[in-house]
Amino acid sequence: MPNSIQTQRVLFVCLGNICRSPTAHGIFQHKVTQAGLQNEIIVDSCGTGDWHIGHAPDPRTIECATKYGYDLSTLRARKLLASDFIDFDYILAMDKQNLRDAESICPDHFNGELTLFLDVLAESTPQDTDAPTIREVPDPYYGGADGFDEVIQLCEKASDAWLNRLRANR
Ligand code: 4NP
Repeated sequence: MPNSIQTQRVLFVCLGNICRSPTAHGIFQHKVTQAGLQNEIIVDSCGTGDWHIGHAPDPRTIECATKYGYDLSTLRARKLLASDFIDFDYILAMDKQNLRDAESICPDHFNGELTLFLDVLAESTPQDTDAPTIREVPDPYYGGADGFDEVIQLCEKASDAWLNRLRANR
């Protein structure tokens, strides 16, 4: 009998695919590879907008990620496609607008999960704390350098939680 590996396919979605989703893509891929799961978990990212198709991540995104040990320089932006709802099991949106835009082209027969990337943190955080749960990765594009650090830190936390979830599915 063939020993087929069950793959889980994860797609990160933001607006431009040059700041937040490539950061999530690079960080999650790094953690998947470190865990030796690169043949079982397939990772990609895209944007709901088309302005940056074919572009490398924003230079500020690349520079900030490099500081934390992640190389995002080889990633290239692409747009979310209808076929992504066939090709991916988890489609993880950075903010509520990205989620609404993805929902607007999601076919009825999609049987994966389309959700906010950070909602996994609410599931894995004890409910008895008063700390408000952040649900969206803030868009750093029009802001200062701090915004890019915040994106990295949120993506690291949520990637750990998603990796735990996907591991538990195996
Ligand atoms: P991202 O950030 O969605 O995290 O890639 C943005 C990138 C580009 C633009 C907006 C947000 N833009 O307006 O071009």
